[in-house]
Parts: sequence; structure tokens; C-alpha cells
Amino acid sequence: MCGIAGYIGYRDAYPIVIKGLQRLEYRGYDSAGILLFDKDVSISKTKGKVSDLEAIMINGIFKKGSIGFGHTRWATHGVPNNVNSHPHVSNSGELVIIHNGIIENYDAIKKELIKRGYTFQSDTDTEVLVNLIEEVKKTHDCKLGKAVQIALNQVIGAYAIAVFDKAKPDEIIVAKLGSPIAIGIGKENKEFFVASDASPFIEYTKDAIYLEDEEMAIIRKNKEIKIRKIKDDSLITPQVQELKMNLEQIEKGGYDHFMLKEIHEQPNAITDTYRGRLIADQGIIRLSGVDNNLEKFTNANRIIIVACGTSWHAGLVAEYLFEDFARIPVEVEYASEFRYRNPILTEKDIVIAISQSGETADTLAAIKLAKEKGAFVYGVCNVVGSSIARESDAGSYTHAGPEIGVASTKAFTTQITVLSLMALRLANVKGTMSSSKYHMYLQELELIPQKIASLLKIDDHIKEIAKTYLLSNNCLYLGRGFNFPVALEGALKLKEISYIHAEGYPAAEMKHGPIALIDDRMPVFVIAINKGHYEKVVSNIQEIKSRKGKIIAVVTEGDTQVKEIADHVIEIPETEEAFTPLLTTIPLQLLSYHIAVMRNCNVDQPRNLAKSVTVE
Ligand code: G6P
Repeated sequence: MCGIAGYIGYRDAYPIVIKGLQRLEYRGYDSAGILLFDKDVSISKTKGKVSDLEAIMINGIFKKGSIGFGHTRWATHGVPNNVNSHPHVSNSGELVIIHNGIIENYDAIKKELIKRGYTFQSDTDTEVLVNLIEEVKKTHDCKLGKAVQIALNQVIGAYAIAVFDKAKPDEIIVAKLGSPIAIGIGKENKEFFVASDASPFIEYTKDAIYLEDEEMAIIRKNKEIKIRKIKDDSLITPQVQELKMNLEQIEKGGYDHFMLKEIHEQPNAITDTYRGRLIADQGIIRLSGVDNNLEKFTNANRIIIVACGTSWHAGLVAEYLFEDFARIPVEVEYASEFRYRNPILTEKDIVIAISQSGETADTLAAIKLAKEKGAFVYGVCNVVGSSIARESDAGSYTHAGPEIGVASTKAFTTQITVLSLMALRLANVKGTMSSSKYHMYLQELELIPQKIASLLKIDDHIKEIAKTYLLSNNCLYLGRGFNFPVALEGALKLKEISYIHAEGYPAAEMKHGPIALIDDRMPVFVIAINKGHYEKVVSNIQEIKSRKGKIIAVVTEGDTQVKEIADHVIEIPETEEAFTPLLTTIPLQLLSYHIAVMRNCNVDQPRNLAKSVTVE
């Protein structure tokens, strides 16, 4: 959570930092602030979004300077208000910091600093850190870099920080543990960019360094960047990577919202996911992460999937896929629970971490624990070079392209695509699926993008349905088998962006509780495709109907039975049951989107949420 963006070079820092912060708002938008240096330091900050920060910076004087950094906050310690906004300044006014993460032992440090005469304006852990750095600098009589290093060795927690010293205004110090930092390198070291991901500097340079945990960088204009280990001060040779991302990918491209753009990108995103990996007519699946570790997978006792949020829902779909196709027992765990419950793991267990951002703190901690216990860790991430991707023993990227809307859409379907490829590859190797079925599944998977494309054409019909239910207070989502996780995901999408209370349930569980809620004001979204337990789901629909509930059913093209009972139906093209989540989820995404827009909600930046949850 929290985004940081900075610049040091020969251009005006203000527009670069502001634009950068806007691109990073998916990481939090409780407050925004900026430091600029031009002869003297100027700091502007405010509760609210980056646009609110721009609005208070009407006086051009404060926009000057070719060095600066900014912050967009997702509040952890201290309510979102002006005082708790970053940057934070040390007591002397000399040092300025921005921070993404949590300093867990800040309270003990704060008490110690208070004893030494320090005072604090905010409730944040970050203000404690900048004053600790100041205290170290004074007592050790050292330069900023050294002071940062000594201070960081005293803190417990997670951080991505940028620190500035008024006395040395040609330098920014950045450091990382747990939260990400990318550094963009301009031509001949004439300029540098610092950010939580590479999006803020994509139009300026394609050369980037991703700091590793416990590394810090000393960045100076016209000088080679210096990277050191925070623990022992050893110098690291910078590994410069070439960025593949382009500007178009992170802009809205004519859509009203990123979420809508990303929903519509799904046919292409899924094609990108399986490009070069699925060669259906030859019956080939190539996934180097799996192929290089085939023995581990085929001898595995079980697979444990760890993830959070939407990625956890993709994990639930994968449970059905791996067990059905490859006959490997699967457990799906919330990463946040798994990491704290002393799980039993052996070297014959495979832990698959699913994460769009590759930065989710709980998922990252879960795989570190799994590695310590000897399990083999496989990462399914979208963001290339992210922490989870780097921490994993092997993995497959989803290649969905940047996902900016906070509500995850194309990440979900591309995760399911990768997991389907993995399950099919293993089924083929283990011989748990007949050759004819295997070939049929490959052909069918290849057709999914065009089926989603045809489904997206019924958007107007979905918009009409959205109009009917936009004033609901509660909604229920039901599904069975492969589509039970889709019911959970449908409910999550609605609640996170429209603030309507929604619950997802396995359809048969309805009679164990939720049925008590059903009356004529309760819309029930039911996934009733003509596969698996169709007849049983139809019975569930009857049960809802006889209690006057409103039924919106997702059915297979040509369905007649459900059509007679349901208030509204949405048809999806025919496909294999195992791949239906890739289709049934699309209308539910669109419904949530339209309901949220009609309720005037901020679709891309729903309240209290953030896209990349780098704190526990
Ligand atoms: C946040 C986001 C969700 C996402 C979850 C897990 O809650 O708002 O959209 O599913 O984190 O994120 P990850 O990046 O690990 O998939």
C-alpha cells in the first residue's frame, strides 16, 4: 500500500511526480503529498487524492525544482488527514521522508526519542523513522546514507522509503524491505526516477533497477548509482533490466474507467497468457516453470495454494482443476491464516502462490514460511519481477498486462488460464486424463477468448439488468462446483465497488442459512449452466422463487428450463464445465461495474481499498 514517486535530474520534477502518483493511486488514495527542492524545500500535502493535492498547489512558486518526491497514502497508523499525510519532516526541518510500509517497533522508538527531546506532530510510524534517522545522524556525526543505514538496522517492519537532506540537495536515498522500489535510470546518469513500480517513468526510460530486500541506493545527479546492503554495507552491482511495459497499456484508451477497459481486455489478455504455451493442434502445453520441475509436480503429495482476495478465488477454481484433471490433492488457504498457524509442510508439498501484484504482504510471508519448511514454491504472478515472483522457486507469469482498476478482473481470468494450463500439463504427464479428452480440452481452451469476446457484446442487456437492482441493499450469489468460486468472486466484485452487501455461497448451502434472508427485495444471482449439477441448481432456484426472491441466472445458450423461472437470464456460450468460470465471471464483472457507475461510486478507486496490499 502507498505509492511513492520521485525524480532527480534536469527536468521539472513536479509534473513527473504528480503524474507518477496518479499512476500509483491504485496503491492507496487517502492522502497525497509532495516535496520539491529549488533553493529551499517546499512541501505540500493534503488529505484526499492526487487531484486534491494538485488543487492546493495553485501557486506556481511551489512547483519548482528538479528534485522531488511524492506519496499517495493508504492509511495504516493514524487517520487520513493533512497532518498524517506524507512527506514527514524531522524535528530540525532538515530531513524529509516518504514511506510505504509499517515500522512495527515505532512505539518503542518513539518513546525513546521523546525522552531525548523529540516532539511529534502526526500519529504515523513514518515520522518516528525520519526522526530516528536524524538522531542517528547527529549522534554518529555521519552523512545521510550512513544514518539511514544505521537507523534501518534498528527498525522492525517493512519499508520502501525515500529520504532527502536539505543539507545535501543533490541526493535522494532510497531503501527497501518488504515493499517494492523501482529505480529508472536516465541516459548517462543525467536523471533518475524512483517509484513503487515502473509506471511513473515508463515514458522516460526503459532501464530500471528493482531493489532487493535490505538494499539501499544512493542516487545523485550525474553520478553512478550506488547500491549497498543495509546489513553489512557491502556494495552490490546494479542489475539493470529492460522494461517491457508501454504507455498505452497504463492509459484508459477511450474507456470511462480502467475496470471497464480491463474487462474488455480479457480476450486479448487470455490469448497473451497462453501465447507460446498452448499449441492446441499439436497437443502441446509448454510451461517452463512446470516442465523444469516435472518430477517435483508428479511426485507431490499435495498442492497448497496460498493467496488473498480475488487471487484466492482463482485458487479455489484451481482446486477443482488440479484434483479433477491431475488427481493431485489440493488445499486452498488464505495466506494471512496460513502464515500464522504453524502449517504442516514437507519437501513433497508444492505451495502455489497466486498474486496479481506479486507484492501482497501476507502471500509473500506465506511463501517465505513454506520455503523455510522445505516446500517447493511456485508463483503465479502478473507483475514481472515482483517480490513473490522473485521469492518463488519457479513460476508462470499471467502476462495480463498492467491491471490498474482496484477491482481485479483480467487478473482473475488469466490466473485461471495459467492454472488450467498447469493442470492439463500435469494430467497429460501423469496419465490421469485420456489423450482424446486432453486434446479436446486444449482445443476448447484456445476458443475461450473468442467466446468472451462474443459475451462482451451483450453489455447493453447487462446494463438493463443493472438498472433494476442498483438500489438493492443485499445480494446473494450462488454457484456449484467450478462455479462456486465464481459466486464468491461475483459477490466480492459487487461489494467492493458498489458498497452493496453481497454474499457468495455454494448453492446447496443456501438452505443452511441464507435462505432465511430471501424475500421479494433480495436479488439472487445464480450460475446455472447446463453442466455438472444443473438439475440441483434448478431446484435451488425454485426454492428461491417460492420465497419471492428475484432470480438473475447465468445460463448456457439455448437454456429453456431456467428461463421459465428466472426474472432475468444472461446466456454464456457453451464450453467445458472446467472452463465455464472463464465465461460466467464476465457478466458478473459487468453487472458490478454498471451498478457501481449508476450509484456514482468511484469504480477504479473504491473507498478504503487498495490494489497492492503490502501491509498485513
Ligand atoms: C487487494 C485487491 C484485490 C486483490 C487482493 C490480492 O485486496 O484489492 O483486488 O485480489 O488484494 O492481491 P494480489 O495482488 O495478491 O492478487
